[in-house]
Amino acid sequence: MSAALRSARPLRVGTARRYLMCPPRYFTVSYMINPWMDPTQPVDVAQAMAQWTVLVGTYRALGHTVEVMDPEPGLPDMVFAANAGTVIDGVVLGARFRHAERAAEAAHYQRWFRAHGAPGMVMPSAVNEGAGDLVWTGSLLLAGTGFRTEAAAHAEAQELFGVPVISLQLVDPYYYHLDTCLLVLDDSPHDGLIAYYPAAFSPGSRRVLARLFPDAVIAGRTDAACLGLNGVSDGRSVVLPREAVELGRALAVRGFEPVFVDVSELRRAGGGPKCCTLELRA
Ligand code: ARG
Repeated sequence: MSAALRSARPLRVGTARRYLMCPPRYFTVSYMINPWMDPTQPVDVAQAMAQWTVLVGTYRALGHTVEVMDPEPGLPDMVFAANAGTVIDGVVLGARFRHAERAAEAAHYQRWFRAHGAPGMVMPSAVNEGAGDLVWTGSLLLAGTGFRTEAAAHAEAQELFGVPVISLQLVDPYYYHLDTCLLVLDDSPHDGLIAYYPAAFSPGSRRVLARLFPDAVIAGRTDAACLGLNGVSDGRSVVLPREAVELGRALAVRGFEPVFVDVSELRRAGGGPKCCTLELRA
């Protein structure tokens, strides 16, 4: 990298985070609720556990706190803790799943939150798949709809959190949750920066994103297709699927530090690092 480019790179400062995660002990692909899932293909639970364990260790090595909740037999997608709810400023909005296969997860997450300092947790009345579709930028709550979370859930979230909600229409079934195609890199209230894959959004939503985030990192098809946008940033280090090499390069140019992990086994269910991670914002 040239000296000029290096000096132009903004100095990024990471902040310590607190995450909720759930081990994939009962992970399998026994049903198909997104196009990544193929129940005819065998899943290696030991491999999924190993990849998840490395992810936990990666966060801890970066200085983050990881809370681990117990998985439940018969709920193979519980590893995707991002769907447990949405937490902003200590206020917790629970989940209500679109598909019967995941419906029972909501009560387990609710029990965990009630036992871990969130007695006032609110349960949604509309379909709401938590931080999978409700993505906090530091000043705006970006809210996906089209496949899972209902638009009515966006209004419920706005009312509970008292933050501006921006509804975004998802149009590609491979990018069924907002966090599969949009990644918050910097969540400081005034300098919010995101990366996203435009083709996953309706034309109007693309225009909204372009208007709100003119500096955004625009990801290409290859990075999107490995769920590369399903990353987790602390403001400096960005944990990404190891295949997302182009995106990693683009982030490095912007002063971020890409940290690559192997999530190949979890991707069989349509998930990546971010899906496995719910940020608990105090
Ligand atoms: N198999 C899960 C589902 O389709 C994957 C969830 C991924 N979670 C996420 N936050 N994108 O519901």
